[in-house]
Amino acid sequence: MARAKISLIGGGQIGGVLAQLACLRELGDVVLFDIVEDMPQGKTLDLAEASPIDGFDVSCTGTNSYTDIADSDVVIVTAGLPRKPGMSRDDLIEVNSKIMTAVAEGIRDNAPNAIVIVISNPLDAMVTLCRKVTGFPAERVIGQAGVLDSARFAAFIAWELEVSVKDVTAMTLGGHGDTMVPLIRYASVQGIPVMEMLEQKYGSAAKAEEVMTAMVERTKAAGGEVVKLLKTGSAFYSPASAAIAMTESILKDQKRVLPVCALLNGEFGVDGFYVGVPCVLGAAGIEKIIEFKLDATEQALMDNSANAVKGLIADLEKMGVL
Ligand code: APR
Repeated sequence: MARAKISLIGGGQIGGVLAQLACLRELGDVVLFDIVEDMPQGKTLDLAEASPIDGFDVSCTGTNSYTDIADSDVVIVTAGLPRKPGMSRDDLIEVNSKIMTAVAEGIRDNAPNAIVIVISNPLDAMVTLCRKVTGFPAERVIGQAGVLDSARFAAFIAWELEVSVKDVTAMTLGGHGDTMVPLIRYASVQGIPVMEMLEQKYGSAAKAEEVMTAMVERTKAAGGEVVKLLKTGSAFYSPASAAIAMTESILKDQKRVLPVCALLNGEFGVDGFYVGVPCVLGAAGIEKIIEFKLDATEQALMDNSANAVKGLIADLEKMGVL
């Protein structure tokens, strides 16, 4: 059986970690594309030379030519500038939309059957633009944000409750920005509500609320927290891990339920916009959008987040790129 093929557009910080994770897990042959001459070839040569040590048998090559992404099963896009301290993801829209347009044309013309996972920011706008330019069906153009935002939320909960990260379930909905919606009601440790465990720990509902609010706020600002510390560039290990989890679910047809940025058709009261929601990811890409009932507070937060995404899309329209 032929191995799967994964192409990575953008060979920077995230692209490099994506290549390494895909190789270590032997998810398929990896092609790393970048416009910078020689850099993707150098990175992949370095990585391939680690294969006897790590014991992976997939191939890993670098390129500056889109023709090398032909027949990709999955294409992951990280091309674009990352944030600098003090910038919001939305500040990247002008420069990254030009890059995304070029990248999406390259994918459309060279890998027309691929499933595309977009990581470039501002995510909700970039995935919308990628879909428009490729013309691919919505189930094959997916944004990575929710897996990462949810992982950050889960990590904070696990650290606070001093339990394994493996036993925490936590999910965020909405856009990949300050308006994202970490779902408190559904956060659990092996099904036990996190709020109940916090009340037990602190012996007071008010204190539990306070601690949860701090974790929610930290989740919303988590990308910026990393940017501030790094000073140059933004998070790269965790976004790469998130996109690899999505890729694995697709290539192995695992049908995992993961929060991803999907084009909604009325679900959660959002119509015609890409927003983060739980989806079944399998061989066909987004195989199902899972809708469930939000309470009034959650729905108001979701509406607010969807409105922020709509604002970004309006910006793209004003710029004439959408
Ligand atoms: N085509 C392909 N690659 C491009 C293009 C283009 N038109 N323009 C820039 N690139 C490449 C750069 O050469 C660089 O190697 O994209 C890469 C981006 O890498 P980094 O600057 O290291 O950024 P990274 O941390 O990987 O983040 C990439 O993901 O999370 C988002 O906000 C982040 O938008 C940013 C993206």
